[in-house]
Amino acid sequence: MQYNTIESLETLRAASLAEFEAIESDADAENFRIKYLGKKGILSELKKTLGAMAPDQRAAFGAAVNSLSKDVENRFKEAHWQNKDGQTQNSGFDPTLPGFPFSSGSLHPLMKIRDEIRDIFVSMGFSISYGPEVESDYYNFQALNMPPFHPARDMQDTFYIDEKTVLRTHTSPVQIRVMEKVKPPIRSIMPGRVYRNEEISSRSYCLFHQIEGLYVDENVSFSDLKGTLLAFSRRFFDEKTHIKIRPSYFPFTEPSVEVDVECFLCKGKGCSICKQSGWLEILGAGMVHPNVFKYCGIDPEKYTGFAFGMGIERIALLKYGIDDIRLFYENDVRFLKQF
Ligand code: PHE
Repeated sequence: MQYNTIESLETLRAASLAEFEAIESDADAENFRIKYLGKKGILSELKKTLGAMAPDQRAAFGAAVNSLSKDVENRFKEAHWQNKDGQTQNSGFDPTLPGFPFSSGSLHPLMKIRDEIRDIFVSMGFSISYGPEVESDYYNFQALNMPPFHPARDMQDTFYIDEKTVLRTHTSPVQIRVMEKVKPPIRSIMPGRVYRNEEISSRSYCLFHQIEGLYVDENVSFSDLKGTLLAFSRRFFDEKTHIKIRPSYFPFTEPSVEVDVECFLCKGKGCSICKQSGWLEILGAGMVHPNVFKYCGIDPEKYTGFAFGMGIERIALLKYGIDDIRLFYENDVRFLKQF
């Protein structure tokens, strides 16, 4: 029988109920489990057909399949029968085990910082976009104005998968993917994991997280970039925080800058966290390079934009006063419990 309508699921429910009632031995129970709840059981197979359904049908039918599957599972958990030695047996539901609540986990500190940063930009009207971690050379470098043999490729030690494929070294390739798809105005942030072939130490790790930001429209200016980053810093760090903008170089922005925030610990007076400078470097940014627009089919005569990229680990280290980046990846519960 083909189960592909909600009515046919009721037939299935009735059949399963009849078989359930007939369970009399360990073997019956095992057969029932395999037939209905096993990996290749009727219900698992049914769930696999959902993908191919028309979306408008899938919602209702999927919900009905899930609810039937839950019912059968719950009923089976409570099943009792006599085994061959005449003892009452059940399917593994042990009423003597401690009940709820299980002790709950918590968000990883990096994810907490990511969510805080994300929420601030979302409240300013930025959408969220994602891109792949295994990225082509084209998106990671070329379309970001780094043709083959461009010296700036060496700024980031790259893990190559093959000649044309890398583990992305930054979230900037997602800028390209967004600009290829969306017409300006674009306002988006792009969080994600990135990889660099660096020696592992207290300061650097072979993978870390970034949040990229991109704003493209007519008449976007450098002061928009300054204003956005200042507003962000004041919400994230301290409402009286100052930021400092220093010239820098990235191939995909012109002009390029690095942004420091006033050290939130010493308020700029100088302490061990800021190495007595009063400032903490948190991100790279700049105005989108016209060549990058050209790669994405956006007219650089008509549109301008800014982009920035910040490292989540770095901000988390600073915010929580942690001195070793490896702690984020060791998953020592004693460390994680503190957040
Ligand atoms: N992608 C750069 C990096 O990883 C940061 C950056 C992003 C700079 C966007 C400018 C604009 O170092």
